[in-house]
Amino acid sequence: MSEHQLSAHNLAELQTHRSEKWRGFPQDVLPLPVAEMDFPVAESIRALLSEMVAHSDLGYLGPIPELGLGFKKFAAERWGWQVDEKQVRAATDVGVAVVEVLRVFTKPGDSILISSPVYHNFYTWINEAQLNLVDVPFERIGDESANPWIFNWQSIENAYASGIKVHLVCSPHNPLGFIYTKQDLLKLVALAKKHNVLIISDEIHAPLTYPGETFVPILSLGSDAESVAVCVTAASKGWNIAGLKCAILISQDAEMNTKLSKLAPAMHYRASLLGGFATATAFAEAGEWLDDVIAQLDHNRHLIKTLLAEKLPTVRYHIPQNSYLAWLDVESLNLGVDPSVTLIEKNRVAFNPGHAFGKQCDQYVRLNFATSPEIITEAIDRIARSQ
Ligand SMILES: Cc1ncc(COP(=O)(O)O)c(C=O)c1O
Repeated sequence: MSEHQLSAHNLAELQTHRSEKWRGFPQDVLPLPVAEMDFPVAESIRALLSEMVAHSDLGYLGPIPELGLGFKKFAAERWGWQVDEKQVRAATDVGVAVVEVLRVFTKPGDSILISSPVYHNFYTWINEAQLNLVDVPFERIGDESANPWIFNWQSIENAYASGIKVHLVCSPHNPLGFIYTKQDLLKLVALAKKHNVLIISDEIHAPLTYPGETFVPILSLGSDAESVAVCVTAASKGWNIAGLKCAILISQDAEMNTKLSKLAPAMHYRASLLGGFATATAFAEAGEWLDDVIAQLDHNRHLIKTLLAEKLPTVRYHIPQNSYLAWLDVESLNLGVDPSVTLIEKNRVAFNPGHAFGKQCDQYVRLNFATSPEIITEAIDRIARSQ
């Protein structure tokens, strides 16, 4: 772990940003939705981008072996996963990669499994591919001191047996913040093998795993996993470069790789040149910066626990094992049918509405804590003020 400290930009600076997070609300609303971070981007990435802009090196994305090689290095160092870099493909973003894979493996009307609550764009991608959504929700019936979110294995198995074509998995999980265990993943792989289901594993949050936690890439689990799964990931969350537009799609099995050759060739060059090389740099060279970010986020995830205990003790919050999203159960605050709307209108603080992740979660909000301790404290104070 590096001993450098990484501080978020201050509010005045952030309010000049052009991204969705900072343009989506009136200026007096403190915005903590949208999974972007408020930290300065890694120096190595900024230097690369400046150099490319200075040389007007802004054409289309062509061959980029650096992408697979950069990810291979990162995956080996962080997770002990040996990636065949020749099976790493570029895509515009994770959403495009998932929809394109769905277009290869399904036809409109086929069924796809998800477990809600889950990243809200899973729903939009499934609509885009015109698939029939089968939802087996997580249930909050587990140990609150460990992972309270329990899989309904029987219903998952029933769904596999019912003829679903694809299972779209969010690993690690947004918004629940947990990391799938090796055992859980192996269970899914065994089911997928038995019922001929494709698993698409969205691992975009994986680089942001906290010290002491173990992330398991699904494709590191051996030949059965490689024969049923593909991984979609990006540097866009870990290094905060979503606006640069590049993600990667990974297979590790010859047959799967052949099937993926049916993907539209445009998927590659619809990623951006800047994004492709920034992504390669992130994975290959910006590990120390990532560790600094994780250290700050680690502080923040515990700060939220302390602040809530002090100011809003009835709000339920389970410290995430990964990434910077806090899933808050605010039902006890009686904030109406959509707490996120009340919090914007009355308290001038914005979070993602829980119902976007799963309709049963209307009394939750998602708070993005990839920011300064001051902004987090102000956000919680703004909620507490009306209590
Ligand atoms: C699980 C998950 N997948 C994908 C994305 C978005 O990725 P992209 O912008 O590359 O489509 C996000 C963004 O927050 C996410 O949380």
